[in-house]
Amino acid sequence: EKIAVLYGGNSAEREVSLRSGAAVAKALEQAGFKVELIDTKDYCLSDLSQQSIDRVFIALHGRGGEDGCVQGALEYMQIPYTGSSVLGSALSMDKIRSKQIWQALKLPTAGFEIVSRNNYQSSKAKGVLARLGGVVMVKPANEGSSIGMAKADSEELLDSALNAAFEFDNEILVESWIDGPEYTVSILGEQALPAIRMETPNEFYDYQAKYQSTTTQYHCPSGLSADEENELQSLALAAFKATGASGWGRVDVMRTLEGQWQLLEVNTVPGMTETSLVPKAAKVFGLNFVELVTRIVELSKE
Ligand code: DAL
Ligand code: MG
Repeated sequence: EKIAVLYGGNSAEREVSLRSGAAVAKALEQAGFKVELIDTKDYCLSDLSQQSIDRVFIALHGRGGEDGCVQGALEYMQIPYTGSSVLGSALSMDKIRSKQIWQALKLPTAGFEIVSRNNYQSSKAKGVLARLGGVVMVKPANEGSSIGMAKADSEELLDSALNAAFEFDNEILVESWIDGPEYTVSILGEQALPAIRMETPNEFYDYQAKYQSTTTQYHCPSGLSADEENELQSLALAAFKATGASGWGRVDVMRTLEGQWQLLEVNTVPGMTETSLVPKAAKVFGLNFVELVTRIVELSKE
């Protein structure tokens, strides 16, 4: 079977995707697949239909690759691919619509407001900070790896955080600040893998803590009791299904100091460098990196 690994691309997470794609391609070769590694940055996707490709492994993070666009093009060309469908990818990429769906289903997620370029200057956006408790996290609606995110606890900081976030998106999620540790649950088919707890000296688990820091600590097992771990895994699976995600992915969740879970987001193409979170959880579950990528390919046939 010949697999094209799509990686790189044009999104703000290009650098992360280059690392994920290279690691995935190497592992797929070790697993015995024929592999074509394709950087989609200056690539015309329709050229794929001229090649003898049996399947695509999508290792693109962020907009254009993780949000349903590439998935739609592949559907059109009738080329099977790993991970979530067009709908599941698009909804999971959009942190605002994800939260609206979870709220409708009574799944826990912190309070928020939407600030768009259009309503930003209007009276509607005024008072956001106070309404959300005085401390907020500002997030572009459709980004990954914490790009464009900032904490704000004053009108001045909120203003600069929103302006910075508008560099990445027209719609910004302003979310009540959550005090407490961040956890992540990897999903493989119908299986939730062991949760990981991230510990960082930074204010939150930001880009630096994710990719550059040597002080970020990853705890797996997470230190939760068996009941709490089960509860977190069930919540993560429910959140994953709610946004229509499937195949594989990763759900990020925080836990307040009072012990309340708060869903952050679903990643439908989570980082896949050999030291990324999903490979860490898979290892504790009993799958090495080669077995993990093989399983992701198998799941795309089910
Ligand atoms: N968006 C990055 C790649 C992640 O969630 O792992
Ligand atoms: Mg993400």
